[in-house]
Amino acid sequence: MNQQQIIHSTDYDIHITSSSYIADEINRCKPSKVFVLVDTHTEQYCLFNILEHLPENTIIIHIDAGELNKNIGTTAFVWRSLLQNGADRHSILINLGGGVVGDLGGFCAGTYMRGIRFIQMPTTLLSQVDSSVGGKLGIDFEGVKNIVGVFQYPLSVIIDPLFLKSLPYKQLINGYAEVLKHALIADKDMWNELKEVKDITTLDFVDIIYRNVTIKNEVVKADPKEQGLRKILNFGHTIGHSIESILLGTDEELLHGEAIAVGMVCEAYLAHVKGFISLEEAKEIKTIFLALYGHKYKSIPSAEEIISTMLHDKKNKGGMIMFSLLESVGKANYDIEVSNEDIKEALAFYKK
Ligand SMILES: NC(=O)c1ccc[n+]([C@@H]2O[C@H](COP(=O)([O-])OP(=O)(O)OC[C@H]3O[C@@H](n4cnc5c(N)ncnc54)[C@H](O)[C@@H]3O)[C@@H](O)[C@H]2O)c1
Ligand SMILES: [Zn+2]
Repeated sequence: MNQQQIIHSTDYDIHITSSSYIADEINRCKPSKVFVLVDTHTEQYCLFNILEHLPENTIIIHIDAGELNKNIGTTAFVWRSLLQNGADRHSILINLGGGVVGDLGGFCAGTYMRGIRFIQMPTTLLSQVDSSVGGKLGIDFEGVKNIVGVFQYPLSVIIDPLFLKSLPYKQLINGYAEVLKHALIADKDMWNELKEVKDITTLDFVDIIYRNVTIKNEVVKADPKEQGLRKILNFGHTIGHSIESILLGTDEELLHGEAIAVGMVCEAYLAHVKGFISLEEAKEIKTIFLALYGHKYKSIPSAEEIISTMLHDKKNKGGMIMFSLLESVGKANYDIEVSNEDIKEALAFYKK
């Protein structure tokens, strides 16, 4: 990649560039020792790109791939590996992987010795456009996603779009749901461009990543701890996340992106019910998502089960389900109350 793009965030920079840029970062921060966290797949497909740019005594920590490993056992394994290999306050951990490696590795670094420096090198589309930016780190515990964690910023984020070359299509389209979310909540022009795209593998991902990181970064900079504006990033996630958790471990299990695609269609309809967008706009959103993600109407649990699961979401306050909806296409609002009747109608809108 010839051009390098830098986006400034709170206390750290996000570089969209070649992964070899890691050498410059290491030279600048002069760590006592370098550690790299990889999972099964990033060890195979991504590690060789950066190894030659790292000091010879770099320690590689390997974990198994997959969300199931984003747990306390893996966390203890990483802490132990740091300790046994002499990680000190001046060491650095590079998290080379998707959201699982980034969230878990960042959490390990953020807590080991009350926090050592770490660099995020996201390798999936989801982690490049979403999870590597914003300082949320953590793990799943007792079956609850992201329930234990900290807010902490990395030393920097280095995004090499070339890593996407080895990413399976299933994972690419999974992350693409967050791209469409960013377009719908914050960038009407991007939505209008992307809704014409039939084959996402033909996209210019350097440009896509730059625009998406810019959106996410602006939102999280304005509201780092999710007191207000940051909630707009939950568009599609209230219903989507509920469906995702109900179906987890069943034959109908959906990827996160597939579940929030359903959620965004339903919540677009809620925006229509609330008078924010027209029925035509809601229908267009449905058509675009169905073309990309298929019509999962057979998998959708009952409205009662979805509503009851939403009530248990950690993001709710005092039994009230609050939505982030589209104020218009390309703009979002948050803390919108919606009745159970409207939620049922929105699910019916998706299903029919
Ligand atoms: N911190 C945040 O703000 C935030 C935001 C959104 C999501 N998340 C978290 O992110 C996680 C999901 O992230 P994800 O979708 O990246 O999942 P993931 O890390 O599990 O990666 C998906 C799969 O792709 C493989 N992979 C990664 N890079 C590859 C590459 N370049 N080539 C081939 N295979 C590769 C991985 O090994 C894994 O099998 C969830 O745990 C979620 O909670 C966090
Ligand atoms: Zn998401």
